[in-house]
Amino acid sequence: MKKQDIIKAILGNRYGKSPVLPSATAFASTNIALCKYWGKRDAELNLPITPSLSISLEQKGTTTEIQVNGLNRITVNGQPIENRSSFGKRLFEYVSLFDPNEPLSFHIQSNIPIGAGLASSASGFASLALALNQLYNWRLTLKELSILARIGSGSACRSLWQGFVEWEAGSNPDGMDSFAKPLPQIWPDLCIGVLMHSHAEKKLSSREAMNRSVKTSPFYSSWPSKVAHDLIQIKQAIQSKDLPLLGQIAESNALAMHALVQSSWPPFSYSLPQTLEAMQKIWSLRQEGLEVYFTQDAGPNLKLIFMEQTLTPLLQVFPHMEVIRPFVGK
Ligand code: DP6
Repeated sequence: MKKQDIIKAILGNRYGKSPVLPSATAFASTNIALCKYWGKRDAELNLPITPSLSISLEQKGTTTEIQVNGLNRITVNGQPIENRSSFGKRLFEYVSLFDPNEPLSFHIQSNIPIGAGLASSASGFASLALALNQLYNWRLTLKELSILARIGSGSACRSLWQGFVEWEAGSNPDGMDSFAKPLPQIWPDLCIGVLMHSHAEKKLSSREAMNRSVKTSPFYSSWPSKVAHDLIQIKQAIQSKDLPLLGQIAESNALAMHALVQSSWPPFSYSLPQTLEAMQKIWSLRQEGLEVYFTQDAGPNLKLIFMEQTLTPLLQVFPHMEVIRPFVGK
């Protein structure tokens, strides 16, 4: 099944029509997975082997402005980007699936580092799908936009909502049943802390690393049952606002994902010495009675999971930690 067939099926007679606005702008939050998407059953459509569950990071994310100006230009945070760069190719390849003939320009503002394991592709493709929906006045539902964002990058399908979001793996070959849905629970005093260990672009994309894990890690066969178990536990933890359970499962899930990467061939590790040092600190803080846990995506930066009441002692240990309150104002 080709990407364009899915797009034609979703857009119906709107496919191939010209933009109705001169420009459109949309924002999407980035999300971090508490139970990771790691492995595809279809690489063309980004269909996952397992479901996954994330939390959106509120004001952290990407704003994409699209202009119909015949120029085919890209800027990221005001800097021009080469159309032939890997970023440019991926962007133009995606938008040409919808309209191969219209030269569009893209101005992308992101307050998260691109390619450093803070899921920039998630908020990037989600904001792009939202902006395209406005530009062409498609009036798609969030479920349909979730499928379109997923075609750009799997984790992007979860970035259309705030709070906790679950991505159903689905089983249809066309992926029409593989999209995300928000969970109704809110958890006002839950905090996420970002520990930046590096802004550098990752050396191995999550796309390549997960394919390598599926093909070569001797432990990959145990991953789907681990996810099935972790998802049940995480949902239970969210339901009962049980931080030790949420934290334990999210941390264990992240460590298992990284164990898949390290046991693949050729081997790789996303962790830097500072990442491991921070992990050790978190484990000793827990031994001292502080309820703090971490998760790690495809990069060296850790995201800490804790409650508002733990913030002050935590900032003494990690003074540079950026704090995000995903449910503030909800
Ligand atoms: C570790 O969504 O970036 O963040 O579908 O190939 O674009 P593609 O991969 P991507 O992978 C995200 C991996 C992860 C885990 C997660 O977000 O669930």
